[in-house]
Amino acid sequence: MSRRSLPPEPRGDAITPPELYVRRRELLGRAGAFVATAAGFGASLTWLSQRGAADPPPAPPSLPSLGERDGDDPFARVRESPLSLPRSEATPFEAITTYNNFYELGLSKSAPARNAGSLRARPWTVRIDGEVHAPTTVDIETLLRDFPLEERVYRMRCVEAWSMVIPWLGFPLAALLERVRPTSNARFVKLVTLHDPAQLPGQQSDVLDWPYVEGLRLDEAMHPLTLLAVGLYGRPLLGQNGAPLRLVVPWKYGFKGVKSIVSIELVRERPRTSWALAAPEEYGFYANVNPTVDHPRWSQASERRIGQLERIATLPFNGYAESVAHLYRGMDLQAEF
Ligand code: MTE
Repeated sequence: MSRRSLPPEPRGDAITPPELYVRRRELLGRAGAFVATAAGFGASLTWLSQRGAADPPPAPPSLPSLGERDGDDPFARVRESPLSLPRSEATPFEAITTYNNFYELGLSKSAPARNAGSLRARPWTVRIDGEVHAPTTVDIETLLRDFPLEERVYRMRCVEAWSMVIPWLGFPLAALLERVRPTSNARFVKLVTLHDPAQLPGQQSDVLDWPYVEGLRLDEAMHPLTLLAVGLYGRPLLGQNGAPLRLVVPWKYGFKGVKSIVSIELVRERPRTSWALAAPEEYGFYANVNPTVDHPRWSQASERRIGQLERIATLPFNGYAESVAHLYRGMDLQAEF
């Protein structure tokens, strides 16, 4: 594994699916033995042994049906969206909030949930500028007031060949970009994570050049599927998932989904994005989910859906081809990956 690459994809049989490790934890808890009993269980059990009985997982929220929500709370006024998968397909809350990639909060899958306490999601402002007619700095409360939230249940396919289905809450990035009115020079959007090693201690390491930067072509950013997420499972985002605001582009590999965003800049040139800079032969700028373009170190033809035992076939554009394939007409997707 090169220093600057995502961790290698673990063997499918080395991973304990969340349902199983949750059950196993209960058993271990009852026996009073939070110790890794067998090396073969892999990272998940080591992680459980580190968490211990005094560190319970976040409680799964009770889930009001969308029609039951009302009041002034923006999280209580959620629209359903036709762009969503059924909620019944969603991955359990515990898995979504305890199996994460957020290198600024640690390199293992379990570290972000453990370390998220250092990230303060309030107060929080986002600067939107560059090639726009109305640059602005806006706080998260204003965003929540101005943009009605929708629930979007999307597939999320990590480049490491695991996947989840996540019931995001958010609003289209396009709605925000329309407010600031891009100039005719704007061709790309650059989105940047908070840079503050006190809150995001992983930024003291040199595993990536900080802050984490991602980017989209303007037409990708304006696509109705592209979301700024502020919550999941009906609740505000937890730190490990990128509180208070992160990008979700469901037809691209998960690393495009930059977390804890403080800056959105409209630019003329393609932005230099973190993973494409760190390992250009492994992580392209486009990062469209494509089962026919393998990662140099593993196949992308199939994936391990967290919570399921069997691997499943990876779909072109992660199953969203009908909505987005036209964006790439005429491009060589083997070369521009
Ligand atoms: N954003 C920041 N700032 N830092 C990161 O390390 N990891 C990315 C992406 N966004 C990452 C990030 C990767 S590789 C993935 S797969 C997704 O976040 C994981 O999102 P999740 O933990 O909410 O499932």
